[in-house]
Amino acid sequence: MSPATTTRNWWDHAVGYEIYIRSFADGNGDGIGDFIGLVDKLDYLAWLGIDVVWITPFYSSPMRDWGYDVANYIAVDTTYGTLDDFDAVVERAHALGMKVIIDIVPNHCSDQHEWFQHALANPTGPYRDYFIWRDAAADGSLPNNWVGYFGGPTWTLDEASGQHYLHMFLPEQPDLNWRNPAVRDEFEAILRFWLDRGVDGFRIDVAQGLIKDEQLRSNPQLAPVDASMHRWEQWDCFEHQHDILQPETLAIFQSWNDIAAEYDALLLGETYDLTSLDRLDRLVSGGDALHVGFWFGAMHLDWTAESIRSTFAQPIDGISAGLGWAQNSHDEHRSVTRFGGGDVGRRRALSLAVLLAGLPGMPFLYQGEELGLANGIIEAEDKLDPVGGDDLDAGRDGNRTPIPWETGDGMGFSEPGVTPWLPFGGRTEADTAAAQRNDPDSMVHRYRQLLRVRRTISHIADAEFEWIELSGESSSDVVAFRRGDIVFMANVSSDATPSPLTGEVLFATNDEGRESRTMLAPDEARIVLVLDP
Ligand code: GLC
Ligand code: CA
Repeated sequence: MSPATTTRNWWDHAVGYEIYIRSFADGNGDGIGDFIGLVDKLDYLAWLGIDVVWITPFYSSPMRDWGYDVANYIAVDTTYGTLDDFDAVVERAHALGMKVIIDIVPNHCSDQHEWFQHALANPTGPYRDYFIWRDAAADGSLPNNWVGYFGGPTWTLDEASGQHYLHMFLPEQPDLNWRNPAVRDEFEAILRFWLDRGVDGFRIDVAQGLIKDEQLRSNPQLAPVDASMHRWEQWDCFEHQHDILQPETLAIFQSWNDIAAEYDALLLGETYDLTSLDRLDRLVSGGDALHVGFWFGAMHLDWTAESIRSTFAQPIDGISAGLGWAQNSHDEHRSVTRFGGGDVGRRRALSLAVLLAGLPGMPFLYQGEELGLANGIIEAEDKLDPVGGDDLDAGRDGNRTPIPWETGDGMGFSEPGVTPWLPFGGRTEADTAAAQRNDPDSMVHRYRQLLRVRRTISHIADAEFEWIELSGESSSDVVAFRRGDIVFMANVSSDATPSPLTGEVLFATNDEGRESRTMLAPDEARIVLVLDP
């Protein structure tokens, strides 16, 4: 964040957009999103003002975790098309001036990957050590106390060999052994394979993972854990000293960074951890490992000034560079829903997007966020996410429903008469991209306007982040910060509140608000040019 920075990277002021490919657009009428569908929608993303698209995994996979269980890292799953179809996506995106980053999943692979199949078949062969094995104890106890991200223990017994293997996610997603140099070589070849095909970088799944404690020591336990707890509650029962963010992870990303540098490519980490800032800082702040690491606080904050301020302050104070920001993803309930749904939920989500657009780092939208979509409604019998058991609230289907492009059967996502892989979940005409593009007051036009304005103030990338100190009523109702001569502010209260600063309003979430220089409407956010800072 040093204002002295002169050499810019292409991603320094870029806006990203996450494409959950299965639910984006179905080009061949089988009810599942694919590359042919995606290529047709790239014009829409360019129109919206997106700089970088991130495409979730499309590799060959048995789909136990919908593609995050990769059976072959250099093959496209036939569900999504062919390598040629992929190339067409990259080519069209580049022609429209957009970059393409793809999701690489290095922490684990599918149990159907040939590496794991060889490891099972031949416990003394070279592939055994691609994974992490421990002998079963005589009393049947597990090798350590780790819990997985989806809840429950992280060890599964391979009866044939009498050993357990480690998996931080599903048993069908065995963790790779990153202490084995052969695994590192495999992935460096995989990175080059895709870079040579023209991708502009990688979103690195579970980047806080990869290396584990050499002795696989148990984590310090903070509270008793039981299987009925929500997966995150189980996770929070431990201090994650030995399973994630091990210091040796740095060397892996440093070596990836050398490769990325040859291609001017971006390394964006899914650095999911909200507590170990110092350990995370080293992975992103030097610029010699990951370029950007996601900070996930914005997916968990409450709509209060205090919660927003502390969510932003934590990484801005603790991590000196390279932050990525998103309030939505394929992993969390949509923010419109989290903020109460309906008009209020939409208003707040848009206002948070305004604030995220002003923070140091890279903001990301998740498909459908620009339409103001709430979670789709999924009935228990339609649930497809392996996460959360019967608990719909713990699962991720509702935030993964197909995009409503148009009204009518198939909603422009798929052909009429085709049942989509996951139900639309109750979309209306007002939710569709088509209806919104015809309405200048719609969410999609506001997001587009926001991104346009952000593009015109790229000088903020070199400006310090400074809080604007507020007193009296405003301090509990307004969040405001400055980047040079540009001020970002949001009124989090449901009442009109005096604006802490006036100036030229470059963007406002609310039309009436745009008229008034002195008052902020309920939940309104603004970008203001202040002439005498
Ligand atoms: C990441 C992905 C998530 C997936 C998990 C396992 O957290 O975002 O969707 O289930 O990794 O690969
Ligand atoms: Ca399809």
